[in-house]
Amino acid sequence: MQAIVMSGPGDPSVLELGELPTPAPAAHEILIKVAAAGVNRADLLQRQGHYPPPPGASETIGLEVSGHVAEIGDEVTGWTVGDACVALLAGGGYAEYVVVPAGQVVPAPPGIDLLVAGGVIEVAATVWSNLDRVWLASGEVFLVHGGAGGIGSFAIPYAKHLGATVITTAGSAEKLDYCRSLGADHAFSYREDWPAAVRDALDGQGVDVILDNMGAKYLEPHVDLLALNGRLVVIGMQGGTKGQLNLAKLLAKRGWVTAATLRSRPTEEKAAICRAVVHSIWPLLADGEIQPPEHQVFPLAEASAAHQRMEAGEHTGKIILQVD
Ligand SMILES: NC(=O)c1ccc[n+]([C@@H]2O[C@H](COP(=O)([O-])OP(=O)(O)OC[C@H]3O[C@@H](n4cnc5c(N)ncnc54)[C@H](OP(=O)(O)O)[C@@H]3O)[C@@H](O)[C@H]2O)c1
Repeated sequence: MQAIVMSGPGDPSVLELGELPTPAPAAHEILIKVAAAGVNRADLLQRQGHYPPPPGASETIGLEVSGHVAEIGDEVTGWTVGDACVALLAGGGYAEYVVVPAGQVVPAPPGIDLLVAGGVIEVAATVWSNLDRVWLASGEVFLVHGGAGGIGSFAIPYAKHLGATVITTAGSAEKLDYCRSLGADHAFSYREDWPAAVRDALDGQGVDVILDNMGAKYLEPHVDLLALNGRLVVIGMQGGTKGQLNLAKLLAKRGWVTAATLRSRPTEEKAAICRAVVHSIWPLLADGEIQPPEHQVFPLAEASAAHQRMEAGEHTGKIILQVD
């Protein structure tokens, strides 16, 4: 099969179209003929050699796909060859075929083009699972950075659906407009004094939940901004891994700081999250209450150009590789 192979860790030019053996499904797995693969920021880290796949996972990059069931493992029930599906992967998505534990394969979201669906499950599963962990509730104030990125462009409408007041940041005027079009109540440039802008907008009230893609760089302002009983959930470390946590401030606010990653979770946990996404998110996509993120499409063979675009911060929403 055709797949993106790497000549070594490095810049996007290490990604090339090559040939790999088509994998065969084990008894608990499904073989998917891939239609589209979502590009995620973690893919860039893997390409650079900083984010190796978990033990046993494919070395090929790619954390999510859409496609059709091509072959079914002996112990798997409930699927028919040809069914349209999407899958959350530990790796292997940038290829014509991928094998996936059956629990991480779910029916494609109804009413969504299969190409677009290739970029939905990773953001849906990440946002749903983390906002569930910190129980974001109606009437609360929610902050997510990078509102025009993959995670942000899904988190904004989902948090609005939950009834939150949504604050976000972005790096350009066009992207701030896009965030507002998604329903953000307040959108501020992260190139300016965004903590002051958030404080002004809230008139002294704190932020109840922060979904944080930046990590260390924003730890201090985030703890400062938290409301009483506020929750900070770190999912990305674009701003580094080691910061100073002022425990006295956290204690006075009875605050929570937590962090989580999806990729290394056991299959059973990922399967439970996938089921929850089908139950909670697919109906919202089907009735149009949430739109999939805006997307840009590259052919699989141009994975290198797709990485360049994401690395330069030039994309809005998701980047999708068309495979089939
Ligand atoms: N823990 C998990 O399970 C999990 C799962 C998925 C993703 N993630 C993480 O979530 C983050 C976003 O992933 P993604 O795939 O959505 O990537 P993405 O589409 O590239 O989004 C990255 C976002 O970061 C924003 N950004 C860049 N510099 C910033 C700054 N100084 N302050 C605030 N925002 C800034 C960008 O904003 P502009 O485009 O406006 O410049 C962009 O929207 C990554 O760190 C990724 O590793 C974690």
